Amino acid sequence: MRAVLVGPPGAGKGTQAQILASELSIPKVSTGDIFRANVSGGTELGKQAKAYMDRGDLVPDEVTNAMVRDRLRGEDARAGFLLDGFPRNVAQAEELNKILDDLGVRLDAVLELKVDEEEIVKRLSGRRQCRNCNRVHHVEFEPPAAESVCDDCGGELFQRDDDREEVVRHRMEVYREQTEPLVSFYHDEGTLVAIDATGGVDAVTERAKAALRSEA
Ligand code: AP5
Ligand code: ZN
Repeated sequence: MRAVLVGPPGAGKGTQAQILASELSIPKVSTGDIFRANVSGGTELGKQAKAYMDRGDLVPDEVTNAMVRDRLRGEDARAGFLLDGFPRNVAQAEELNKILDDLGVRLDAVLELKVDEEEIVKRLSGRRQCRNCNRVHHVEFEPPAAESVCDDCGGELFQRDDDREEVVRHRMEVYREQTEPLVSFYHDEGTLVAIDATGGVDAVTERAKAALRSEA
């Protein structure tokens, strides 16, 4: 299965990507997680990305595209992958098509997670992410067994800087202006499947699996 998850900030892409990648035994490639790891590791890539991320803007395409191209080659994209957070605009989607053409494979499905703005604000304001394994928790909806400790690996949970209210508002604007056009791009390509991403995590996973099965 070669699939992309698309949806607004806080729609549950990272949450579902982690579960689906493990159930389908395919690697998850999350551009947000890769950038955050580079920012905390102080790498050159992290330095290039940080200011854009802090503002809630997209990191420039040339930086992001090169990173994804490298990663998909390394992961052996022919064996399958789940992309979370890439592509984020039409230029990145066109680049992904080129990367996959070069590898001689195609996307099976683009899964759109649909949630309304009120739910997004609730999800992002309570999000806590693991510094070690990237697993996301939520103080109310996915609370860890022990406060500030990841259930999966015991790592420390932290609140993302870009989950502050004014940055969230800007990320939503960027989504509407730059990422939402991908929905019609992939609809025209015939790979788009949309699901209702409200309700509990397990219910969304079941809808996602059914939608992906229908495209496989
Ligand atoms: P990125 O990390 O990709 O952020 P995002 O797209 O804004 O998405 P989020 O991670 O905020 O949300 P999510 O949909 O993964 O939700 P989650 O599962 O965590 O990108 C960050 C930045 O990196 C960008 O702003 C940009 O600067 C840069 N970047 C990344 N990719 C780029 C690209 N391709 N090009 C250029 N720049 C790029 O869930 C949210 C919360 O809700 C959690 O607390 C979770 O526990 C909870 N939750 C999840 N599902 C449910 C449910 N069903 N019910 C209740 N709670 C739930
Ligand atoms: Zn963890």
